Amino acid sequence: MAITLSMRNLSLRKTPKLSNEEFKQLTSFIYEKTGISIPPRRKYLIENKLGKRLNELNIKTYSDYIKYLKFSPQKETEFKKLCELITINETCFFRDIKQLTLFKNIILPEMLKKRQEQGSKSLTIWSAGCSSGEEPYTLGIILHEVLKVSIIGWNIKIYANDLSPAMLFKARKGIYNEYSLRTTPENIKKKYFTVTKEGYKIHPKVQKLVNFQLINLADPRDVKKIPKSDIIFCRNVIIYFDDAVKKKVLSHFYENLKDDGYLFLGYSESIHRITKLFKPQIKPGGIVYQKNL
Ligand SMILES: C[S@@+](CC[C@H](N)C(=O)[O-])C[C@H]1O[C@@H](n2cnc3c(N)ncnc32)[C@H](O)[C@@H]1O
Repeated sequence: MAITLSMRNLSLRKTPKLSNEEFKQLTSFIYEKTGISIPPRRKYLIENKLGKRLNELNIKTYSDYIKYLKFSPQKETEFKKLCELITINETCFFRDIKQLTLFKNIILPEMLKKRQEQGSKSLTIWSAGCSSGEEPYTLGIILHEVLKVSIIGWNIKIYANDLSPAMLFKARKGIYNEYSLRTTPENIKKKYFTVTKEGYKIHPKVQKLVNFQLINLADPRDVKKIPKSDIIFCRNVIIYFDDAVKKKVLSHFYENLKDDGYLFLGYSESIHRITKLFKPQIKPGGIVYQKNL
């Protein structure tokens, strides 16, 4: 009862006001640490999301919160919390089916054939900015669909990373609601998910292909933790970065990708203005990028 009341008091409490100067300081901090740019028109979003957090911490002003983020002994933990609050994690299984069909029917078979001819039955895929896991698990399902039983003869690794600990927690758990599966074909739902009390649980044979890690794409030391990839998926992530950070993140992908590898970006994400490191390949179903060597 006491807890319920105090929770209620917390939610009824007025949230602190964010001045323009504090907004500038806070968004510069976020930009420096994560590469994420938050324009002034989104100020109200920051106030909505962080106001409750300040009340939880009993911090009265944003200036004090910025000091807390920069100098308190809890700064590392608070930074993770901040990432949870400011990131946009919208995703679903089988997002952008046209692009995934291109991956399934053209890029993946070509890559598997090539690696087999080179005598290495090994394939590494990186899902960069994986949110709650729907994208890397979708790729795992597609690999099972393409390779069928012969998958046991392959060494397949899908590295999946995000900035938000809460999203990675959900991803590792691998249980989803109907909404996450809204664009998933019925036969795939039946084959790769078990219905549990908590929701749809992804099949362990897909789950074991994926390795989740907390990684900041804007941090070169972090991205070095990912082994060289044959294929990189980074969809609907670089839209949150300005051109300078896009350029930096794309150079990390260039370093990571094998010379004959492929990079998939989000449907609306164009990079021709940003870098010459990659050349677009126009294929049925969309554009995929290869390294300019
Ligand atoms: C909109 S979701 C896209 C998820 C998935 N790729 C898809 O297309 O469905 C963007 C994700 O990128 C993550 N993200 C943003 N900036 C990041 C960074 N600097 N490092 C790692 N992940 C980041 C966010 O936390 C968020 O979960």
